[in-house]
Amino acid sequence: MKVSFKILRQQDNLSAHFQSFTLDVNPSNTILDCLNKIKWEIDGTLTFRKNCRNTICGSCAMRINGRSSLACKENVEGELKKINANTEKSIPEIVISPLNNLPVIKDLVVDMNNFWQDLESIEPYISTNARNIPEKEFLQSPQERKLLEQTGNCIMCGACYSECNAKEINEQFVGPHALAKSYRLLTDSRDDNSQKRLEEYNNIDRGVWGCTRCFMCNEVCPMDVAPLDQISKIKGEILAKTDINDDSRAVRHRKVLIDLVKDGGWIDERKFGLMVMGNYFRDIKGLLSIMPLGLKLLSSGKFPFSFEPSEGVAEVRSIISAVQDSE
Ligand code: SF4
Ligand code: SF4
Ligand code: FES
Repeated sequence: MKVSFKILRQQDNLSAHFQSFTLDVNPSNTILDCLNKIKWEIDGTLTFRKNCRNTICGSCAMRINGRSSLACKENVEGELKKINANTEKSIPEIVISPLNNLPVIKDLVVDMNNFWQDLESIEPYISTNARNIPEKEFLQSPQERKLLEQTGNCIMCGACYSECNAKEINEQFVGPHALAKSYRLLTDSRDDNSQKRLEEYNNIDRGVWGCTRCFMCNEVCPMDVAPLDQISKIKGEILAKTDINDDSRAVRHRKVLIDLVKDGGWIDERKFGLMVMGNYFRDIKGLLSIMPLGLKLLSSGKFPFSFEPSEGVAEVRSIISAVQDSE
């Protein structure tokens, strides 16, 4: 069958442009097979990364039809199905572009420096003290090892980083790959640095609270690492630790939310602003920051002067208590 590959090409300091190549392909061909064919038979200057050709090394991550994935994992048939291409009417088209959130070096090759620096910033190795053991080996039980399986599957391909909405708007956010690795370290029985790590990951901009929960990292990860799930587990651990910076606005936000819903079945917005932003009248700067919003609500007649508890408060309370007890 004939398929057109529309590839975004770019070199340093030059504007990007699409170039199309039409190939005769087998539906089972991987996208990487097709790129190789273009490079070897049509245009040797087309540049992309590859190595294992088998979903192991993570080098061939790129955006295929607007979704970051591995070129050696996706095939022509699967891609055409995703876009509901009508192969009988016209030559279907597969659009290929480089990963997002990273600068392009050439064509489909991006500069991964920021990706690695973000990973480095969470100290992605077992703590030094924990490594000072008298035995020759640092043994783990099968149960302890099992806890590392899902996060240990990460091949550092960058697909999650490319789709991360938080990373796109906040350079400081360390990214889903780094936070998935963070959870791996928190669960690793050989690491003895959990308290310090949780304090680090509690950072409002760089750490777990910077995530917008858009779900894209879970959606695109080719290894089912589910970074968002790992981020949520770290948040749970932070919230469960009473000795971790309770004054942090992000932590207070979650705790106040639960307390208010437990109290009234839904959120009393007047109290929410005062407790979260104003830290129970202790944070004057925070209080002042919500004044303009309060005035705007007042002038437009939308300020909630009273609060009515929702129906079924008792039921809501018992559900929250049951969840809290089970934790
Ligand atoms: S869920 Fe969070 S970490 Fe994952 S892609 Fe979205 S913003 Fe990024
Ligand atoms: S978490 Fe998944 S998508 Fe992200 S770098 Fe690792 S393997 Fe790739
Ligand atoms: S070439 Fe190694 S993952 Fe695709």
